[in-house]
Amino acid sequence: MTSIAVRAPAKINLFLAVDAPGADGYHNLTTVFLALSVFDTVTVSSVEAGAGLRLTVTGTDTAAVPVDSTNLAWRAAVLLAQRTGIDADASITIDKQIPVAAGLAGGSADAAATLVALDGLWGTALDRDQLGELAAELGSDVPFALHGGVAFGAGRGDRLSSVLTRGRTDWVLGIARTGLSTPTVYAELDRLRAQRHVPGAADPAGVLTALRQDDAELLGRGLANDLAVAALSLRPDLRRAVRAGAEAGALGQMISGSGPTVAYLARDPEHAITVAARLSAEGLFAGVRVASGPAPGPRLPRSAR
Ligand code: C5P
Repeated sequence: MTSIAVRAPAKINLFLAVDAPGADGYHNLTTVFLALSVFDTVTVSSVEAGAGLRLTVTGTDTAAVPVDSTNLAWRAAVLLAQRTGIDADASITIDKQIPVAAGLAGGSADAAATLVALDGLWGTALDRDQLGELAAELGSDVPFALHGGVAFGAGRGDRLSSVLTRGRTDWVLGIARTGLSTPTVYAELDRLRAQRHVPGAADPAGVLTALRQDDAELLGRGLANDLAVAALSLRPDLRRAVRAGAEAGALGQMISGSGPTVAYLARDPEHAITVAARLSAEGLFAGVRVASGPAPGPRLPRSAR
């Protein structure tokens, strides 16, 4: 096997409650993750021994993605090689379809797919738990990126447990013209909370029940994100984008993760197209996409297993 391609989905948080920061600066989270059918594809290929790592990025937003050791996919390759005691020799190509710095965990998706793909290419054959430990070292969202589907997240968002879900959910994503930095959004939330009382997300019961019962209306009412107030404070223009959801007929909407992407819930695929067309006509976004969830996490192709 000299070349392996693995797809990794974007994620949104259906529910995201953020506690005060701990001594390490990280915030304890209570979150429900959902992977969506917007995928980056990571292709890894053998190179000659001693050649090291080479990273290439194709697709959308390529200028915004580093192609050196600061890229989380590169760090994933180095970490896997170190822990398994082999030389990090590979060519990695990321075909980016997930918008960058958008609150959709595209970088984490690439890192998770890189772990899976290189584990196959290098024959290191780690099990899911071992890959999950490496994922948690790389970033808070990487364990879910490896998991895919739907999951409940605690701790930094890296302690996952399963969520019962029936059926699919349909979404429209409003992609902003410029991104937001995750640490900046967390810092803004801390700043706002130091100034005044900021009402927070209550509990994820509504979202969990809605997923279990395949009840899109209930899901729409349960969507909540504590980071939204901070993202809106940094980017007041997003208020219009959030408001536009109700006018376009969405069942609910929220800022995804640390933003600035706004995720709008639709009743079914046809309704998603209608909502997307209405939102496109508003001219608020760089792009509007339809997607569905839960989408599967990164897996080795059958031929490489
Ligand atoms: O873990 P990761 O490197 O993806 O986190 C990026 C940044 O997001 C952290 O540096 C921190 O500022 C913030 N963060 C946080 N609490 C979390 C997850 C992320 O404060 N649970």
